Amino acid sequence: MFTCPRCGAATPPPLCRHCGHVFGTIDGVYQLTEDPNLNLDEARGAKYIGYDAVGASYYDKDYADSACGRADLLLAEAMAERIGRGLLLDLGCDGGTHAVPVALRGCTVIAGDISQVMLTLLLRKAAANHVPPGRILPCRLNALAIPLADASVDGVLASTMLHLISDHARVLSEMRRVLKPGGSLMLTTNSPGIRNGPAPAAGAAPAADDPNGAYLRLQGAFDGRYWEILNQWGVRASYASWGFDQFAECAAAFGNMTHVHIPFEAPRTWTLEEAFLHRMRGRGYSRQQSVPDDLHRRAFAQVTAEFVDTYGPEFGSVRFAGGYDGLDLHVFTK
Ligand SMILES: C[S@@+](CC[C@H](N)C(=O)[O-])C[C@H]1O[C@@H](n2cnc3c(N)ncnc32)[C@H](O)[C@@H]1O
Repeated sequence: MFTCPRCGAATPPPLCRHCGHVFGTIDGVYQLTEDPNLNLDEARGAKYIGYDAVGASYYDKDYADSACGRADLLLAEAMAERIGRGLLLDLGCDGGTHAVPVALRGCTVIAGDISQVMLTLLLRKAAANHVPPGRILPCRLNALAIPLADASVDGVLASTMLHLISDHARVLSEMRRVLKPGGSLMLTTNSPGIRNGPAPAAGAAPAADDPNGAYLRLQGAFDGRYWEILNQWGVRASYASWGFDQFAECAAAFGNMTHVHIPFEAPRTWTLEEAFLHRMRGRGYSRQQSVPDDLHRRAFAQVTAEFVDTYGPEFGSVRFAGGYDGLDLHVFTK
């Protein structure tokens, strides 16, 4: 059950039962907010980082047209079971990483994100995976004011998104509000399963015996030098809200927490070029969103030239060997 963007009454989309408003759509995506994709100015309200620009490089390979991965299908089965194959709000759904497999497992999914680019990718991913019509309702919305009525969904999924919003307490209270009594808030984490590779080290050196030490040192050094140059030019990283324990805060708000561990082991390996350099070159890390494009290109080119001088032209071919060693789901019941 949605709230009408014009009169605020509870109604199913697309035609408001109360005022007759027809919900606007762009490219098949319901437009349920007029907020911008990105707000890095606290004076305009809570900060958040939508993925319009991030996604352009994050998912520019064949992501949107490819089949769901086995890890995502397994996680989806656990989530679908948990909410009795009912109605799930996937908040910060990005390109459909979870929304698509959960829909394939029999749930109806309100796929909500502030990024129109991500929602467009989600529609492609849904088509590529033959999701039955009507199973996914793609919505451009702001998690800070969820356009759903109180107690309207069986489950809410917030997967690696709370850290992108400075006022996560408000998002948490919104998620709780839209859950039915007995409904589940589910959080996933990249740990211990590795999805997209390790985050660049924030000043911390890898252990001397770490088999991926060479990769991690190069990645950390490249990242550090890039920001050193930008800081000299007066540009700072755009952090929204990284420093809080999402599990502890949700447990405090709900008064309970269940940890579901799904056994899943699979090796994964990639080069520095394929993962880190590719994404960083495309300004695909959220903290790069405040960097003007021309300064980003100059800084990236300068660090690349320095690294070629120091480590040789093949420095991007250093390899990381990792893998999934289980999937984790944290569940909080209303
Ligand atoms: C790291 S991605 C999450 C990916 C996905 N849920 C997963 O687990 O793979 C974070 C997503 O949150 C979205 N986002 C950021 N701020 C938001 C907001 N205020 N409202 C809705 N979505 C937001 C971004 O656009 C992005 O698609």
